[in-house]
Amino acid sequence: MNKHNIQIFDTTLRDGEQVPGCQLNTDEKVLVAKALEELGVDVIEAGFPISSPGDYKSVEAISKAVKRPVICGLTRAVRADIDCAADALKFALHPRIHTGIGSSDIHINHKFRSTREKVLSRGVDAVKYAKRFVDDIEFYAEDAGRADNVFLARMIEAVIYAGATVVNIPDTTGYCLPWEFGSKIKYLVDHVPNIHKAVISVHCHNDLGLSTANSIAGVVNGAGQIECTINGIGERAGNTSLEECVMILKSHHDLKLETNIDTTKIFGVSRLVSKLMRMSVQPNKAIVGANAFAHSSGIHQDGFLKHRDTYEIINPADVGVESSSIVLTARSGRAALYFRLSQIGINISTEELDELYPVFLTEADRKRLINDDDLIEMVEKSEILTEKV
Ligand code: KIV
Ligand code: ZN
Repeated sequence: MNKHNIQIFDTTLRDGEQVPGCQLNTDEKVLVAKALEELGVDVIEAGFPISSPGDYKSVEAISKAVKRPVICGLTRAVRADIDCAADALKFALHPRIHTGIGSSDIHINHKFRSTREKVLSRGVDAVKYAKRFVDDIEFYAEDAGRADNVFLARMIEAVIYAGATVVNIPDTTGYCLPWEFGSKIKYLVDHVPNIHKAVISVHCHNDLGLSTANSIAGVVNGAGQIECTINGIGERAGNTSLEECVMILKSHHDLKLETNIDTTKIFGVSRLVSKLMRMSVQPNKAIVGANAFAHSSGIHQDGFLKHRDTYEIINPADVGVESSSIVLTARSGRAALYFRLSQIGINISTEELDELYPVFLTEADRKRLINDDDLIEMVEKSEILTEKV
């Protein structure tokens, strides 16, 4: 079966790093960039060089240290930004300048206090100017999610004509519904005459919890690149999560889409980013949360212990997690208690299990979570089981 390759553009070090309190120094950024290279991302957005001397230095250092992926620097549609990005990227083997401007009337009227025509011409000028430095130019039409499709199509056609190789359609405010965002991408595919000369990229924010769904709707409708971050970190409610998109495409063969990501490295990179940014991963986070492969209710545990597929759609080893876990709580059943006991070398009969189970439930109600030491103590205290320990 022929699959279409979707490019993974990681912006952990640019949009992700905009999270308050998560700023990294240059050495830390190089460490993350190398981990992203190992993970197999196609593009690393290394920073916004004009924003600070530190960011400039980081983009330059990453350009030297990382060889395989495209290294990208963000700019506004401002010549000084583009000069600065081009300079910071001068050592990159595969440099890309990411420039752009607002495309929605809200941004055009209130942020730029300008007109559609003027903003469009600034976008075109920025692409042409950036083209003097590098071939690979990505144009972002900021707030495309809320932009009028007819105007957006005109803008995209004009910037491709000016030399853009990638056109980024961001849902900057995370407003779109998946079918709406998917239709927007399809509209561009159908109405921009030169669209085949560029790759369409999707860059979705998570304000309504829809960034992953919107990104998938985007690629299903013709986008060829997803912009995302590790652990879904980013401005406000965050960006599209890399691990979610990659595992959706890997799990749903019917979509016939694939990425170059080595999924077994996902968990390690997730923990590296979490540690360096001092930002913990929520336990119920899809794919990389501590509970993503933990089964705690009796019904689920019983099914899982009989056949993994009953309650798991991803093999934890596929994302670098050692194994699934059976967590013991007051919702756990006999099967889980028996399993965990046998895991720590305590094998008991059905009758013994029947006697121990109510003791376990009382203790679990009191303690909430029962660990291996609690189990050993419970068995030690139990008269019928003294010989087992
Ligand atoms: O969310 C957004 O629109 C952005 C652009 C700068 C690409 O981050
Ligand atoms: Zn963004």
